[in-house]
Amino acid sequence: MLIQAVIALLQAPYANLPQYPVANTFDPLATPGQAEKGIALLTIAITTGIFVVTAGLIVYGIWRYRIRPGDDATQEPPQVYGSNQIEVAWTVIPILIVFVLIGVSVRVIAAVQNASPSQSSVKLQLIGHQWWWTVNYPQFGVVTANEIHVPVSPDGKMVTEVRLESVDVAHSFWIPQLAGKMDLIPNRINYTWIDPHQPGVYYGNCAEYCGTQHANMLLRVIAQPTADFNRWAYEQKQPAVDDPNAAEGKKAFLSLACVNCHLIKGTPSAGVFGPDLTHLMSRQTIGAGVLPLNHENLRAWVNDPQQIKPGCLMPSMKLTGPELDHVVAYLETLH
Ligand code: CUA
Repeated sequence: MLIQAVIALLQAPYANLPQYPVANTFDPLATPGQAEKGIALLTIAITTGIFVVTAGLIVYGIWRYRIRPGDDATQEPPQVYGSNQIEVAWTVIPILIVFVLIGVSVRVIAAVQNASPSQSSVKLQLIGHQWWWTVNYPQFGVVTANEIHVPVSPDGKMVTEVRLESVDVAHSFWIPQLAGKMDLIPNRINYTWIDPHQPGVYYGNCAEYCGTQHANMLLRVIAQPTADFNRWAYEQKQPAVDDPNAAEGKKAFLSLACVNCHLIKGTPSAGVFGPDLTHLMSRQTIGAGVLPLNHENLRAWVNDPQQIKPGCLMPSMKLTGPELDHVVAYLETLH
């Protein structure tokens, strides 16, 4: 019973945090998201007004000047030259509306872009790959993948600065409840920031078409109180657990081509082309969010990732049944 509870907890880390799986831009829980919601509502209000007026005039015209019994269908309506007043009005009013929208947008964009990180800000480097994310915390010596941990910021003060880069094509970082989209562009560095006001797991995704598995390039932001975040960072910094019970699986893993792409801190496996696996089991999902991380899914993934995420850069290693069991057992020790 207790063991089952512990296993359930390990399989669903942070399950006690509120989950926000419906990434609703109209329910923002961070400062940039709230500012952007303001522009969205203003734009929707103005454009709704324009729609109602224009559609209303069309409906009125159709109704008012409909053909009636006794009308002569062959007779042309009176031909009139336009009115200067009306022409000026419908040129100037839209220009004013456009300037209002530009002005408000520029102000919010500037406010979000010009916010500078404080001394205590967490600096996060996010690197886009086809089709997953490297999450790097240079201040803490921590590297992970696809799941971003940040401290919460109840006062909106402590900012997590996100530096965005790409190693291949253009991607886009989007956590709808936290901030608007920001692209990750090869040979360019973009910055954005997030400051979740409440603890929780916020869902996001790549928002720029980047190839076959663009839709399975998912992200989670796990916002925790600062003490919990610091504990997480401390644990992530540690080298991999070396469980003697998994020695056979470790030997098998290290003898395979896995080591060319994956890093497991404290072992000779030092590849950087794929996600860091040092603390694999501390994550909620595998394959950048394609499946929840549990025994069956991990086994199926290692057996043949192409069955689960066709086109992803990890090939099937064509392991035999016992080899697969050993390798998966070893990966499951990487907490
Ligand atoms: Cu990366 Cu779409």
